[in-house]
Amino acid sequence: MLMQKSSHLKDEIMKLKKEKDVVILAHNYQIPDVQDVADFTGDSLGLSRQAATVSQKTILFCGVNFMAETAAIISPKKTVLLPDLEAGCSLSDSITVDELRNWKKQHPGAIAVGYVNTTAEIKAELDYCCTSSNAVSVVKAIPNDKDVLFLPDMFLGSYVAKITGRKNMHIWAGECHVHAGITPEDVTKKLNSMKDTEFVIHPECSCTTPLMYDVADGSFDDQKVSILSTEGMLNHVKKSDTRNFVVATETGILYRMKKDNPDKTFIPASEKAECQYMKMITLEKVYDALVHEKNVVTVPKNIADKARLAINRMLAIS
Ligand code: 13P
Ligand code: SF4
Repeated sequence: MLMQKSSHLKDEIMKLKKEKDVVILAHNYQIPDVQDVADFTGDSLGLSRQAATVSQKTILFCGVNFMAETAAIISPKKTVLLPDLEAGCSLSDSITVDELRNWKKQHPGAIAVGYVNTTAEIKAELDYCCTSSNAVSVVKAIPNDKDVLFLPDMFLGSYVAKITGRKNMHIWAGECHVHAGITPEDVTKKLNSMKDTEFVIHPECSCTTPLMYDVADGSFDDQKVSILSTEGMLNHVKKSDTRNFVVATETGILYRMKKDNPDKTFIPASEKAECQYMKMITLEKVYDALVHEKNVVTVPKNIADKARLAINRMLAIS
């Protein structure tokens, strides 16, 4: 009965999106049913790029608020819909505009680099925006003599500082509760449970930092470890000859991984790594937003104009 209902809803959504000239973009953490009706599924950077280039007049964004805001900023002439306006993000909540302004005052002349997981108001205060897939390249593009303020994710920040070898990076102590909850113990347990396993890990995870040192000192001699964005993970597992993978990120990614690679095995580093915000987007809400063209996400023009500069710099660097 439930299956029948979801397949009927999917058919209706597919029909309506064509009739109404709507493109559906879905993040890799969305529930399978929602990914199934999307025109594009991807990571934050890939979806921002799609939002900038799609021809449809309406973007129905299946993700969280900051992603829909980013789409609205990049494409001010398009209508952006978010099936549930309450779909927030603990990471983007970890810094306020006043906190950022005070931090900038304490470091005059520093370049502010902010993760895409921030509100539009925060983006308007940034010099550069970045995502997990281009954070290293963005920081490398900044002259070495400039101090960098990196926000809000401390694990991604330490990862970037380690990879770039940069000593003048100041890192905001924010975190995503989902990724911070994936501990080194979770990972070691899973890695020890399977032979011939590769390990793919998102740089927002709290286990990223200790693992980087383990990798550096050779503790993972026979197990390959790759620190990647969600789309980077999907590309990597497809190309790799390895058959077993432990995946350290939100569990929604496993749907596409398994679908794209039916002959490989994927196990989550932690089954508990579920983002309740991403999971607020259901097929019913997608249908509702589409039928009524409701839950429009808008960003005031003065904020959008400033934020667009930082976002465009992010889109220019891969
Ligand atoms: P990416 O998909 O850009 O790797 O980001 C992960 C994330 O946490 C989005 O909320
Ligand atoms: Fe935000 Fe974390 Fe959820 Fe991504 S997984 S949307 S960073 S709370």
